[in-house]
Amino acid sequence: MVEDPSRTVRGIVLAGGTGSRLWPATRAVGKQLMPVYDKPMVYYPLATLMLAGIRNVLIITTPEDGDAFRRLLGDGSSLGLSIGYAVQERPRGIADAFLVGADFVGTGPVALVLGDNLFHGDGFGRLLRREVGRLRGCTLFGYAVSDPQRYGVVVADSSDRVLSIEEKPARPRSSLAVTGLYLYDGDVVARAQELTPSARGELEITDLNNSYVAAGLARLVTLGRGMAWLDTGTHDSLIEAAVFVQALERRQGVRIACLEEIALRMGYIDADTALALGRAQAASAYGEYVERVAVEFGANVAAG
Ligand code: DAU
Repeated sequence: MVEDPSRTVRGIVLAGGTGSRLWPATRAVGKQLMPVYDKPMVYYPLATLMLAGIRNVLIITTPEDGDAFRRLLGDGSSLGLSIGYAVQERPRGIADAFLVGADFVGTGPVALVLGDNLFHGDGFGRLLRREVGRLRGCTLFGYAVSDPQRYGVVVADSSDRVLSIEEKPARPRSSLAVTGLYLYDGDVVARAQELTPSARGELEITDLNNSYVAAGLARLVTLGRGMAWLDTGTHDSLIEAAVFVQALERRQGVRIACLEEIALRMGYIDADTALALGRAQAASAYGEYVERVAVEFGANVAAG
């Protein structure tokens, strides 16, 4: 059967913004290029899209940082992906991703992930692929936090239909934050085009999501306590995320968001290709790890 391209989900990583909350650390380098322990921050959201089964990705950057992202990830082909780039001239809001990326998205379904969001948990990839497969309207991922007033806050009914979302409310109606991962059907560009800027001059992702809520088309998937969702918006949360990744990686001997490993496990590249990618980075423990995984997958060590 020929795959219907309108059903093939594409992915956007939104990696713009001023990074001003991390100044001066992010004055000369984009926030999403900063390391979270052993790899650049953007690896984590890109890994999330790859685990969802998405191979066609648009990375939206500031005008200054596009070249650095290209140097890092290229066209994605070495990972079995197709990666394109677009520029957001200034931070006009998260929902602006669908105006900047309108041609890329077209009228097909799409996943948006914020470039500073880190997700990790057993079975997360399976959960994402299931949700992508059953997408209707929009799907949001909620996570219980101790400080919901810092986020979009969501309330849903017992059948997971979203009833309301409020952006950074002073008095949150639940402890469930809306995480920076969103799945949308093919109406999303048209809905984004209808939005008007908020009081702070941005196209708000919460307004876009509320247009789906009003149509009764927003579903909430609550990520349980076995999942980690970390954001990296402040100096403290950045180092906390790094320490979290370090602790898990050292304890378990595996790496989180290792793009080469995910590409291999998802069948986007073969073991010999992964081995070559590992060898090219063999001076680092990360590269050695990629080599080791490739060998476990049967790579031909005598070749190359
Ligand atoms: O992290 C989840 C939260 O993300 C949600 O709970 C909120 O509903 C949502 O509004 C957003 O809140 P933030 O306060 O974290 O949004 P912020 O403006 O910091 O933007 C998040 C990331 O998106 C940041 O790394 C920069 C990038 N960004 C943001 C804007 C507004 C862009 O690339 N372009 C933009 O125009």
